Amino acid sequence: MPPAFAAAPPARLRGGAFGLIALIGIVSSPAYAAATDMALAFDLAEMLRAGRTVVSGNQALINDPAIGDKGFTGEVLVSEAEVLYENRAAAAGADTSERDQRLLEAQKMAMRQVVDAHQTDINMEGVGFKGFIPAVFARLSNDAFKSLAGSEARIRVTAPPDLVRNRKSRPDAWESEIISTKFMGADWPKGEPYTEVVEYEGRPAFRMLLPEYYLESCLSCHGSPKGETDITGYPKEGGKEGDLGGAISIIVFQ
Ligand code: HEC
Repeated sequence: MPPAFAAAPPARLRGGAFGLIALIGIVSSPAYAAATDMALAFDLAEMLRAGRTVVSGNQALINDPAIGDKGFTGEVLVSEAEVLYENRAAAAGADTSERDQRLLEAQKMAMRQVVDAHQTDINMEGVGFKGFIPAVFARLSNDAFKSLAGSEARIRVTAPPDLVRNRKSRPDAWESEIISTKFMGADWPKGEPYTEVVEYEGRPAFRMLLPEYYLESCLSCHGSPKGETDITGYPKEGGKEGDLGGAISIIVFQ
């Protein structure tokens, strides 16, 4: 029998009141919880990626020393990110539960707050590179999301220990283990996330780690020559296109 049918109630329980009881049994089963948590985790990752892409697409504007007020507000970022998100997320809008919608709204609020808090920097005339890059935007947005919704869910970006630039992004023991035993393994399917229900801060939590790889556009900072200082002041990692560069880590408390 295919696994998809494993949770179906026995035929004699279908229909009428028995059917309802069986349905409640399915809805509250751990397997169902994991499926909805997985959907939420993907949605949060997709929204974070959309926000980063918008910051990336606006780098030339943000770093233009000739323009003062750039009109790149939190509201602009969120509306551009929403368009990308709708296009990317396969199940966007469909069957999103009240909880998932609430948490996605909190995430958008977090992203909006971060861009709004950086208006003075972003609109600084006479300054070129401002350091408001996708990775910084992501870290600050994830911190703000933790303040808004941290008792329900968390999202962060981490990396293999030898690649981590910001110590706040160092992997925890679970992330480190998955990166080294799964993602670094020769046979791990590229891009495949790892999920597990484990205890986190004393509570059962659904965890997802989603590997990310360097693209050509990352290499001006994370590429070669290794050790050379990049525009942000960090030494380059010597990474190559396609190398594992980091991972998005999501926690959904049960
Ligand atoms: C303009 C230079 C620059 C580019 C381009 C860049 N990064 Fe980074 N990246 C940084 C900096 C600086 C940080 C540390 C940000 C912070 O303070 O949290 C960082 C952080 C990260 C992190 C978080 C873990 C850590 O090291 O702190 C990951 C993962 C990452 N970058 C991957 C990528 C990927 C993948 C790309 C391309 C899609 C990319 N970066 C493009 C400069 C860059």
